[in-house]
Amino acid sequence: MNRPNPVPANANTIALGQKLYVSNCMICHGQTGRGDGPGAAALEKKPADLGARIKAGETDGELFWKITEGRSPMLSWKGSLTETQRWEIVDYIKTLAGK
Ligand code: HEC
Repeated sequence: MNRPNPVPANANTIALGQKLYVSNCMICHGQTGRGDGPGAAALEKKPADLGARIKAGETDGELFWKITEGRSPMLSWKGSLTETQRWEIVDYIKTLAGK
């Protein structure tokens, strides 16, 4: 679960992760990761504030694990995003911790 990130964050991986986040995640998690996307209102459980979780010490490996396996009511992303894409998203969402 606590795997080190094999896709180190740099301008390129963060930009790729941002694109993936905008097209797959923003609907629920919101533009700045606060869990206030337009799709969140219909869910029985609100998405967490990702930036706050990261500030609280959530590691890359934990984020990757939750994205991979899903977190009810969020589905698993294993089948729709490659492993590299999931790490790129981790690189991007870590930039949300400062917002
Ligand atoms: C259908 C709405 C929805 C979509 C789309 C969605 N999520 Fe989620 N996500 C949730 C909900 C609801 C939870 C569970 C509550 C929680 O733990 O935040 C969650 C949980 C998470 C968590 C765990 C938070 C934590 O620290 O425990 C991460 C990380 C996450 N989502 C990232 C993503 C990423 C990355 C994407 C895009 C690939 C994505 N989500 C797409 C709704 C969604």
